[in-house]
Amino acid sequence: MEKFKNSNLKLLNLGCGRHYHNDWTNVDFISTGEKVIAHNLLNGIPFAKNSFDVVYHSHVLEHFEEKDGENFIKECYNVLKPKGIIRVAVPDLEQIAQNYLKYLNASIENDKDAEHNYNWTMIELYDQTTRNYSGGKMGEYLKSNMPNPEFVYSRIGKPSNTNYEKLPVHRGSFFRFFNPMTYLRKAKVLLLSSEEKKALKIGKFRMQGENHLYMYDRFSLKRLLEKCGFKHIEIKDAYKSNIPDWNKYKLDVTNTVRKPDSLFMEAVK
Ligand SMILES: C[S@@+](CC[C@H](N)C(=O)[O-])C[C@H]1O[C@@H](n2cnc3c(N)ncnc32)[C@H](O)[C@@H]1O
Repeated sequence: MEKFKNSNLKLLNLGCGRHYHNDWTNVDFISTGEKVIAHNLLNGIPFAKNSFDVVYHSHVLEHFEEKDGENFIKECYNVLKPKGIIRVAVPDLEQIAQNYLKYLNASIENDKDAEHNYNWTMIELYDQTTRNYSGGKMGEYLKSNMPNPEFVYSRIGKPSNTNYEKLPVHRGSFFRFFNPMTYLRKAKVLLLSSEEKKALKIGKFRMQGENHLYMYDRFSLKRLLEKCGFKHIEIKDAYKSNIPDWNKYKLDVTNTVRKPDSLFMEAVK
């Protein structure tokens, strides 16, 4: 595969959260800094076709429903120049499933340490998908006197290296305060039953992008990239990339690997 020369590469980081590099064009629901463009990626990627050399997203794809995820990867393909590189990091469903079976079997055999790891694995698998409030059980577990911090940090990275704080919440434009419809909508909510209010609250939370709505492993992510037209699909680790000077940007590695539970995959347009 032809390697890039690193002169004036156009680099795009989608769903960057608070973790981005100023040499990149960075996008998230709301702007977490001067160099972050606010945009809902479910409305497409707001750049011209064939305009970037690299598109990267870390722990974003799993926040979209399966069909939206496919559209998102197709959009990534469109904004990449020919021979452009996509790098995707997602929580690795295969690793979670292996841990689940390992700690399930040991817990059945009354191994108490394994049971703690089993509890955490259930949080990774289900709390991240089903929670109806920010942080969910995972947030509570991380704030508690954890019985198995080493295991937890081996999965999600050391606290000094990771943002456990709440992610920015998508609340819509500031100008909504000047829109009479905002107040009409609020008045409409007053007429709802308590069940309907609860459903609305849950629905609104689930649309904020915090939940995992689908998950991937090395088989399904490769298949998705192929389906969207990508070639030369490779599994990477946090340090290795075909993106020139990858480690200089400190996106997947700061002091240590930022998100050790990740599957890292790259492909070429
Ligand atoms: C788990 S965080 C990952 C953040 C960062 N990429 C990282 O690796 O630390 C997921 C990010 O995706 C963003 N996100 C989720 N859905 C989005 C959407 N529809 N449009 C824009 N950003 C979205 C969230 O706001 C959040 O910052």
